[in-house]
Amino acid sequence: MKIDVLTLFPDMFNNIFSESIIKRAISNNLVEINIHNIRDYSKDPHKKVDDTPYGGGAGMVLMCQPIFDAVKALKTENSKVILLTPGGTLYKQKIAFNLSKEKHLILICGHYEGFDERIKTVVDTEISIGDYVLTGGEIPAMIIIDSITRLIDGVIRKESYESDSFTDNLLDYPTYTKPRVYEGLEVPSVLISGDHKKINEWRREKQIEVTKKNRPDLLKGDNGYE
Ligand code: ADE
Repeated sequence: MKIDVLTLFPDMFNNIFSESIIKRAISNNLVEINIHNIRDYSKDPHKKVDDTPYGGGAGMVLMCQPIFDAVKALKTENSKVILLTPGGTLYKQKIAFNLSKEKHLILICGHYEGFDERIKTVVDTEISIGDYVLTGGEIPAMIIIDSITRLIDGVIRKESYESDSFTDNLLDYPTYTKPRVYEGLEVPSVLISGDHKKINEWRREKQIEVTKKNRPDLLKGDNGYE
């Protein structure tokens, strides 16, 4: 999988892919991540990328030209172009899973007050990571890259993500490690029983219990997974 990111703030991406699972995925050639400065595609002599909005209003708006040219330069027949915007479709694990099967993603990070609406004509999907407004699409792009990379074949073991929260519309079950008792807090005895049928039943019960408590919306199915 190849991921190209278009941003006005490439330095924000320094170091974040140089640790742990993403670092390993990159060095094993399972994912290639390239960060591009939108300004490098500007044809303006002063490398201008934004201007005031028609009709008036606060702030500056990202212009079409640098984005159109950047997408033209990077896009192939296998590319999916994604615009990060609070006005996009709400991002879910199911979307992460589907995107992890793509060959090439181009992520466009919006900034300032917004972007020229015509930019949407070069975009396949608009994604929001949540119902709040961030200063730009950089952190959403990082979240998407992180959540997708761990799902790419060969990056982590399948068993590690099959029981993840949100698979089956349920949150994950609780896990424990040594010691068996810590400051009077005991590990549930079923986990030490060695009875795998019972352990699986207990885990399923706990998944339902925690989902009812923290995310009843998932149980109702109104979560965009169907
Ligand atoms: N840009 C600003 N806020 C955002 C959000 N919630 N999701 C995606 N991109 C954004």
